[in-house]
Amino acid sequence: MPSEASKASDASEALAALASRLPDGFRFGTSTASYQIEGAAEEDGKGRSVWDTFTALPGTVKDGDTGAVACDHYHRFEEDVALLRGLGGDAYRFSISWPRILPEGTGRIEPRGLDFYDRLVDALLAAGVTPLPTLFHWDLPQALEDRGGWLARETADAFAGYADTVAARLGDRVHEWITLNEPFIHMVFGYALGTHAPGRTLMLDALPVAHHQLLGHARAAAALRARGARAVLASNNLTPVRLHEDGRTDADRAAAAAYDTLHNRVFTDPLLLGGYPDLDAFGVPGDLGGAVRPGDTEEIARDGRLDGLGVNYYNPTWIRAAADPAATGGLPFDLAEPPAEYARTAFDWPVVPDGLSELLTGLKERYGDALPPVTVTENGCSQPDRVVGGSVDDEARVRYLAGHLGAVADARDAGVDVAGYLVWSLLDNFEWAEGYSQRFGLVHVDFATRTRTPKRSYAWYRDLIAAHRAGRKA
Ligand code: FCB
Repeated sequence: MPSEASKASDASEALAALASRLPDGFRFGTSTASYQIEGAAEEDGKGRSVWDTFTALPGTVKDGDTGAVACDHYHRFEEDVALLRGLGGDAYRFSISWPRILPEGTGRIEPRGLDFYDRLVDALLAAGVTPLPTLFHWDLPQALEDRGGWLARETADAFAGYADTVAARLGDRVHEWITLNEPFIHMVFGYALGTHAPGRTLMLDALPVAHHQLLGHARAAAALRARGARAVLASNNLTPVRLHEDGRTDADRAAAAAYDTLHNRVFTDPLLLGGYPDLDAFGVPGDLGGAVRPGDTEEIARDGRLDGLGVNYYNPTWIRAAADPAATGGLPFDLAEPPAEYARTAFDWPVVPDGLSELLTGLKERYGDALPPVTVTENGCSQPDRVVGGSVDDEARVRYLAGHLGAVADARDAGVDVAGYLVWSLLDNFEWAEGYSQRFGLVHVDFATRTRTPKRSYAWYRDLIAAHRAGRKA
């Protein structure tokens, strides 16, 4: 049996080896989102968001949980910034709550909302952490949803106005911005399937939501650049598409290609290639049901150009042809079970680190020189973490993170410019329709007392970042 001392030295050698595979200047950090951590849902003049509305409806969220208090980050942000300081990462991705700044979505500005993010940004800078705000992580002002939400073209202009307001206040200290978080997931869960706010069930008629988010991104990017932004990114959820084990027919392959188009290309092609992919497999016309007007695709490619692509990766998707397209709402594909060989997270998501290298190298193959530097803006796993004797031994998360960072290094070795990696998430938080049942944090949160307990993965990530720094100086 290896002694404790030799196990520790093996672990620190493994850490140093992993750190040395990532270059100087590679950025490490963590991600969170406003509705998932802030709480203070009705404080300091904040307007109602679609998530405040949705969570109040019976049956929408597991156990009837809401984000009304969440991690109470709004009142405890200094403690959370201290945790970030302790971690030693380069960047912290958080999101700004639109209804805190503009309670009705447009018009009247709530200064107390801006003051909160002002204090947060100052605290981050004082802790040596670069603030990387996301402007929209799904908590749309309810007042805008009442006027059609992202189905309405006007929401794109409202978003640009909000971006301008925030940048006017924070732009002297914040130089990099992420406009949208996961516009694909927001469209599908929020507007096509209705499992997230605002709970619409429009299936393919939700596609105008894609276009209006992209138009909003472009208009917000123009506003941010006019305020001196140095870098504008958008983050999307992307997935490598794999054929189901038994799926080897032409129909299976066509189904996989159709799924890939919908999930991975609808938002990325317009930004990097200047136009939407062909959606014939879905019987959807090129103007996405009349949403796309002359000049829009040019505007999205020009003003929406990306200084970096944010990639959120959790797992591949296994696909086979729909046995009964009527049962899938006319979609040509079925989502299949992942092969049994993979370990699963508490969410039952398969753990597939090489899916991340496959995804990143696939992006390079697809977009070539049009692909800007990529930052992994979310990656992580939920585990059934418990505090035992004052600590949380989340060994499975350590393995998950090490595996996925190794996959990032593999993609870099294969020639993909990956600039950084942000763990989802700093804290256990409100996981949307799953409420508080899924713990993704490097830091455990007791939702009765809001006590924070750094997990073993926090110490591991801190040591990795330190090893990377030490290597840099050598
Ligand atoms: C992503 C979301 C993020 C979090 C993780 C687990 O889809 O962007 O808010 O819920 O999944």
